Amino acid sequence: MSVLSDISSFIERKIIRSDKARWDLRFKNGWSYLENIEELPRFSIIAGYVRFLKTNPDVLEMGCAEGVQAARTGKDAYGSWLGTDVSPTATDSANQRFGDEKTTFAPADMNDFETDKKFDLIIINEAIYYLTPIKEKMLNKYIPMLKPDGMMIISMNTGRNTDHETRWGILSEIFDLIDSTYTETSKGGWNIKVLKPKAV
Ligand SMILES: C[S@@+](CC[C@H](N)C(=O)[O-])C[C@H]1O[C@@H](n2cnc3c(N)ncnc32)[C@H](O)[C@@H]1O
Repeated sequence: MSVLSDISSFIERKIIRSDKARWDLRFKNGWSYLENIEELPRFSIIAGYVRFLKTNPDVLEMGCAEGVQAARTGKDAYGSWLGTDVSPTATDSANQRFGDEKTTFAPADMNDFETDKKFDLIIINEAIYYLTPIKEKMLNKYIPMLKPDGMMIISMNTGRNTDHETRWGILSEIFDLIDSTYTETSKGGWNIKVLKPKAV
């Protein structure tokens, strides 16, 4: 290993570790604004897409926090739901509140999450900012987790610090757009897109 890659690996490990600790602390401190009315539309739009797109889908959600998306979607709308988040405090809380035989939440960093299971839908609501590098992780990790007609549902806030235009641009290189919705509340605007991997 070169000195440069040693340094870069050290920085990456440090950043990931501090990121996890920072998010976990937020949830320990009762970070619950995600359940406020101003956040409701984006959850509702994604819930509608889940219900419209698939019957009893197997769903993977990354960056699920305390399970609000699964709850807003409703247990009758999916066959199985696996929510993952870097914060174990968040996934513990999600399991306690909404877990059952078909709804489970597990701590995992989306950058190194692995499973043999395949999904009809992968949801990343307000959390794709932490997947890096997006294109490689999508191509090598998450697109292979999709079933043949599987789709991704991704939301991003339109605030300046989300770099959303760059991220949507990268995603458009590897996904076809099935549908897109914009919602705006007093707390900001969100684009929500349904994406399907481009045929190779
Ligand atoms: C802005 S919150 C969004 C939460 C929820 N999806 C929503 O829409 O309200 C971002 C979430 O991503 C999680 N997160 C941050 N970095 C992550 C990572 N590397 N892997 C998995 N989850 C991560 C945080 O713990 C947090 O729950």
